[in-house]
Amino acid sequence: MSGIGENQFDTKILSAEDSDALGQAVELLGQGLPVALPTETVYGLAADALSAEAVTRIFEAKGRPANNPLIVHVDSAAMARDCVYAWPSAADQLASAFWPGPLSIVLPKADSIPDIVTAGGVTVAVRCPAHPVMRDVLTRCGFPLAAPSANLSNRVSPTRAQHVSKQLNGRIPLILDGGACEVGIESTVIDLTGEVATILRPGMIGLGQVRELLGDTQVATGPQTGATLKSPGQLPQHYSPKARVVLAGELWEATLGQANADAHVISLEPPAANWDPEKWHEMPSSPDGYARNLYETLHRCDQAGAELILVQPLPTGAEWDAIRDRLTRAANEG
Ligand code: TXA
Ligand code: MG
Repeated sequence: MSGIGENQFDTKILSAEDSDALGQAVELLGQGLPVALPTETVYGLAADALSAEAVTRIFEAKGRPANNPLIVHVDSAAMARDCVYAWPSAADQLASAFWPGPLSIVLPKADSIPDIVTAGGVTVAVRCPAHPVMRDVLTRCGFPLAAPSANLSNRVSPTRAQHVSKQLNGRIPLILDGGACEVGIESTVIDLTGEVATILRPGMIGLGQVRELLGDTQVATGPQTGATLKSPGQLPQHYSPKARVVLAGELWEATLGQANADAHVISLEPPAANWDPEKWHEMPSSPDGYARNLYETLHRCDQAGAELILVQPLPTGAEWDAIRDRLTRAANEG
């Protein structure tokens, strides 16, 4: 089957608390169809990771380029080991410390993982998510689930079922609504296939925490190119809302003073007296709170028809790195 278009499905949204919602999700996944599910980071668009045909439908529904590999979700380290060719002690250490949780580990792939999942590459990213709904579905399925974020390619990731529905309505049969995501930005991706452990995508599990455990660890720098991108989440532009996003520098006050009053503002401070409070988005002062609200806020700006979003500079400090990363990518054009 090919060509999942906008009206292929009459998309259902079911509360994950409905008695039979999980059963329906498991049944559809068993038939090789994609289902949107909540995870603690962002909503994922899941399909049977062992079926090339099922995974094709994810790429079609999202309009995702075939050179961008998917993360394989598992309910345990045991299931992860079945997806990889080798499980080094560093993987054991990371899994014991951070799973279930927002960390994806890149390892050599097992033969059982179809090439389409890894975009033809020889490595696979595995993650054991913490969200109880996702975990329950995984355990009931008994097979791993490939799941990218449940947005159209290059758009802001969804942290609520409604965000998924806005982008993928008609393209998938079912969305399970598990409420707002706790973490709010995508998992940290760490590559264990090189000489030194390398963070390919920053997330709320930071470099410091990984170093404490593994010692020598580096962060990949610069955009990557090539037929199979090492981690396309690293392309300069990604996760973009429709509006132009401007990260203000030191001249924040001046930028604000000059800005057209139609602009939306994302700030750590309460609304300026002269600003429409509907267009001023005051963010929590902790990195965890900010991350939890970030995509939600970008989605709200989109919905309000914002053309320009001004973002106040973030505090310095490594605990803001992943948030800075996502904002920088949202701000880059083209
Ligand atoms: O938190 C998350 O990771 C969410 C939830 C749904 O689990 N998923 C997610 O998936 O963000 P996606 O497809 O939007 O982003 C996956 C990232 C991409 O940057 C991709 O390039 C990278 O992980 N990736 C996947 N497999 C890889 C591999 N074998 N080697 C290097 N990077 C990989
Ligand atoms: Mg994504």
